[in-house]
Formats: sequence, C-alpha cells, structure tokens
Amino acid sequence: MADIANVYKAGAERYEKMEYNRVGKSGLKFPAISLGFWHNFGNNGSYDNMKAICRTAFDNGITQFDLANNYGPAYGSAETNTGRILREDFRPYRDELVITSKAGYDMWDGPYGNWGSRKYLIASCDQSLKRLGLEYVDIFYHHRMDPETPLEETMEALQQIIRSGKALYAGISNYNKEFTKRAMEIAKEIHLPLIVNQRRYSLLDRTIESDGVKDFCAENGLGIIAFSPMAQGLLTDKYLNGIPADSRMARDGRYLHESDLTPEKLEKIRALNELASERGQSLAEMALAWILRDGKVASVLIGASRPEQILQNLKIVGHCDFSGEELKKIDEICGV
Ligand SMILES: NC(=O)c1ccc[n+]([C@@H]2O[C@H](COP(=O)([O-])OP(=O)(O)OC[C@H]3O[C@@H](n4cnc5c(N)ncnc54)[C@H](OP(=O)(O)O)[C@@H]3O)[C@@H](O)[C@H]2O)c1
Repeated sequence: MADIANVYKAGAERYEKMEYNRVGKSGLKFPAISLGFWHNFGNNGSYDNMKAICRTAFDNGITQFDLANNYGPAYGSAETNTGRILREDFRPYRDELVITSKAGYDMWDGPYGNWGSRKYLIASCDQSLKRLGLEYVDIFYHHRMDPETPLEETMEALQQIIRSGKALYAGISNYNKEFTKRAMEIAKEIHLPLIVNQRRYSLLDRTIESDGVKDFCAENGLGIIAFSPMAQGLLTDKYLNGIPADSRMARDGRYLHESDLTPEKLEKIRALNELASERGQSLAEMALAWILRDGKVASVLIGASRPEQILQNLKIVGHCDFSGEELKKIDEICGV
C-alpha cells in the first residue's frame, strides 16, 4: 500500500511544477512548456539521451510531446524512436500525455505524400500511429496551408480521422489569418474540434503579431502554440562568443545556418542577453517568458538537445511578468 501511495504522491509533485493553460475555448489544457521532437530524436541521435530528455520533461510536468510524420532524419524516425520510448517507459502514463502528429510537408515520393489531400492526410496518420505504436494521437495537425487543395477537403479529412478514433482534436499549423478564419468557419459547419494553430513566434520573429493571427485566434477562441520560441537556440547564451561544436548550427546543417547569425542579429542577441541578466534570467528564460507574457499563447513548444536545457527552461514557470519599460526596451532592441 505504501508503494502505491508514493506513486500517487510522485505524480502530484510532477504537476505542481508546471502551469497548465486552456487551449482556446476547448476543454484541453497545454503545459506552459511543451516538448518538440523535430531535432534530436532522429536516427542521428543517442537513444539514451532521447529517453533522458523525455523522462526529464514528463517528471517536471511537461505533458505534451509534439511530433510530425517527417521528423528525423530519416523521415519517420523520430516517431519510431518515440514509439519505442513510449512502449518502454510511458505505457502506464498514456492518459497523462498529449501526443501530437502532423502531415502537410513532403513525406513520401509521388503525388500522394505531400500537401493537404484527404488521400495524404489519412494515409499519413495511419503510418504515424503505426510508428508511434498508438491507437490514437491527441491532436492531428495539417502542417501547412495548401493553396491548391480545397480547404473543405483538408478539414473533412481531419474530421474523418477524428470520427474514426485516430485523433481526439484537430490542429492547423503555419496557417495565416485568412486560412485560419476559413478553417474555423468550415470546422464550425462540420463540427470539427479544431482547437489550435501552431505558429513560429519569438522575440526575433513577430509574424503572428504583424499578420494578425495572434489577436484573431485570441479573440475567436482558437488556441496558439508557439514553435521555435528560442529561434532554434539563437535566443540563448550559446552563440554569444562563437559557434560551439555541440550546437545545432555546427552539428545539423538542415535548418540553422551560420549565415543566420548575422552581425546585426548577434548585436540584438547580446543586448537582449544583457537585459535578461538585469531581470535575473538567462536569455533562454526571458525569450520563453516573453511569449507567455500576455496569456494569448497557451504553450511554448521548445526543443532540447539534453535534459539540462529542460531543467533550465522550466525556471520560467510563474515568472513571465514584464514591466512596461522592459517590454519597450525589448522592442527597441529587436527593432520593432
Ligand atoms: N509546425 C511547424 O512547422 C514546426 C516547425 C518547427 C518546429 N516545430 C516544433 O517546435 C519544436 C521546437 O522547435 P525548435 O527546436 O526550433 O525550438 P527552440 O526551442 O527555439 O530551439 C531548441 C534548441 O535550442 C537550444 N536550447 C534549448 N534550451 C536551451 C537552453 N536552456 N540553453 C541553451 N540552448 C538551449 C537547443 O539547441 P542545441 O541543439 O544547439 O543545444 C535546442 O535544440 C520542434 O521540435 C517541433 O515540435 C514545428
């Protein structure tokens, strides 16, 4: 009996370390920090490290694991590796986790492995479930806008996935305001539980403010989750004095390049780093806290190459307040 009591106590402690925010007008809550599997979970990573990252996240209340069909490399391998971790470590905790997947970018050759057709989405969801070893994902996303497929077809495909029990909620990602609005209208008409738009958002990328998506979602009850909140690591102290050998920029040339670290950007990063230390935070912490400052974003979707980064980033929980003066200074530094 004592053992069982301890198990329950440990669980409760896990959730005391995190805050949970409602996703739009839905019944679902996201942890303030979610973990993404875009990098560090492919076949080029250490399996033991992946496991340690997942355990550290979950032990600290990070209940959302975000995947997509083509996370790797190779495409699909992040889901396969995660499936193994779920099977070996997380079997008793399935109902305590929000696990997501997506389709919309290139996945397999030929005309049916990309964009937004019913044919692609339904086949891809089936493949993801097999790799993950799951009966359903909690959210299935359409990963990007498709200018050619009728949006009705894409939304109905998401509806079919949900009706067949393969996902609980639907999401859209990288949708601009016009597509978001139309997707919400169709969702309402067909009773699709579309609850979230996943967009890039950071101190260095304010597009969701300038294109109106952030306010539109907040006003209309669609949740927002912000990906690459640390600009893939640029908004940390990592690149202040060069490019460390163990960084994403040095190790993985796919999406973050030396050319992304221009002298102008480095100057901004240095100034932001100074402001962060005046606030008693690391730059990574300030970058994450800033996104959550006004309650319009439900969760920051971070990546981590090692468990220690997660522990550092967790320090923002309960520390996302900024003075008007600090916000003004941040905008000045960022040139907004
Ligand atoms: N929907 C979409 O189209 C889309 C697109 C991109 C991403 N996403 C989602 O968003 C997730 C996160 O994206 P991201 O990895 O670009 O996010 P990010 O949080 O901006 O960057 C993560 C990287 O920052 C570094 N880092 C994290 N914490 C740190 C700390 N405390 N100190 C120093 N460095 C730290 C690590 O880089 P090092 O490896 O250099 O240590 C880590 O891999 C993805 O996994 C995916 O789930 C979605």
